Amino acid sequence: MKIGIGSDHGGFALKKAIINRFTDIHFDDVGTYDEESCDYSDYVSKVCYKIQKGELEYGIVVCGTGIGASIAANKIKGIRAALCCNEFMAEMSRRHNNANVLVLGGRVLAEEFSFKIVERWIDSSFEQGRHQRRIDKIHELEIAQNNSA
Ligand code: RB5
Repeated sequence: MKIGIGSDHGGFALKKAIINRFTDIHFDDVGTYDEESCDYSDYVSKVCYKIQKGELEYGIVVCGTGIGASIAANKIKGIRAALCCNEFMAEMSRRHNNANVLVLGGRVLAEEFSFKIVERWIDSSFEQGRHQRRIDKIHELEIAQNNSA
């Protein structure tokens, strides 16, 4: 399994910890690679554009709170980014929202707790059915937005 992963300086430590913890996953790490201050949108977009282009199916992005990263990720067409603060949210974001990007707050969550969230997110699958109809409606919003721009 290959997952794109990116963070700003606020999420750098957690990104590194996730990569070290999940050794069975091949991470495409787009940076940042140190704790020097940087802008989360630069790294979030790198992960999300790879998903948009079909180079990757899933991504994990981390900033300090996860808020900026989730706002940025969800601006990119085709991205369904879910900021998850617990395992339940992680599971539901896959089962109901078919989230293709997991967003975490590096300054919000304890490392071990974040690992559980990542694990649950990876182990959960989209349920289709009525949830597909809802995802389709989100896609229609994207199309309407494009047409009104
Ligand atoms: C960076 O200081 C911080 O603002 C960023 O990591 C994130 O929390 C923004 O939402």
